[in-house]
Amino acid sequence: MNHPIFAANWKMNHGPSEARAFMKTFLTQYPRHYDRTIIFFPPTACIETVDREVEGRSDILVGAQNIHWEDQGAFTGEISGQIARDAGATVVLVGHSERRHVFGETDEDTAKKCAAAERAGLRPMLCVGEKLEEREAGKTEEVVLRQLRAGFSKLAQIDSFNPIVAYEPVWAIGTGRTATADDASATHGVIREELKAIVGDRARAIPVLYGGSVNSGNASSLLSAPDVDGVLVGGASLDTGSWISIVRTRLTAEIAAEELASGE
Ligand code: PGA
Repeated sequence: MNHPIFAANWKMNHGPSEARAFMKTFLTQYPRHYDRTIIFFPPTACIETVDREVEGRSDILVGAQNIHWEDQGAFTGEISGQIARDAGATVVLVGHSERRHVFGETDEDTAKKCAAAERAGLRPMLCVGEKLEEREAGKTEEVVLRQLRAGFSKLAQIDSFNPIVAYEPVWAIGTGRTATADDASATHGVIREELKAIVGDRARAIPVLYGGSVNSGNASSLLSAPDVDGVLVGGASLDTGSWISIVRTRLTAEIAAEELASGE
């Protein structure tokens, strides 16, 4: 089991002043936990704000929600990996389902963006996941593997690179429907096997997160499922109270240690 990751994807919510207020409350109420890492993906305009607020907290990372695949140039409205890095990001979401299905990003685009992240020294969190009709047609595995292979196909140093993968079934995002822990675990197992085929033994060190309607009520069972190394949370990460209860989720190891100590 990797050190679990709790990632907040704020999407197009919280400007700099809200982000600052959120972070001040969050940091006051959430002291460092040494057994987990938190990542915030705020809107681009807040990367620097959030980064400044988390100074000195190495358990908390800041990421960009998107980058362009070119390193610089005449691409109005876009940001490059270097710009995101300079603003304080160390991670970047690539191929989120809204990028794929609202903005028409292709597998080829995600491959170029992962390569751009690599050049900029950002860790890509490649998002993969099937649509409802693909799931119903029994194509979950085929879709997820296609997106995974494509996403990492243009990396120059795949052998030494350390990406993150997020499995987010499209039908579970923002809908209140969550995959069961067993379903999530089964797909994560398929992803892990494919990662082994791509990078060999190092695959075990690549975190595979689950996302899609995660909240404080289901985080614990998802996190205790085999091969689930963390959660990527949208809606439930926008409110400090709900986000704090998610990041405080008791982990299986913690519960087992307590049971052992109390002689149960
Ligand atoms: P949700 O979003 O938690 O609101 O379903 C997850 C995501 O899109 O990353």
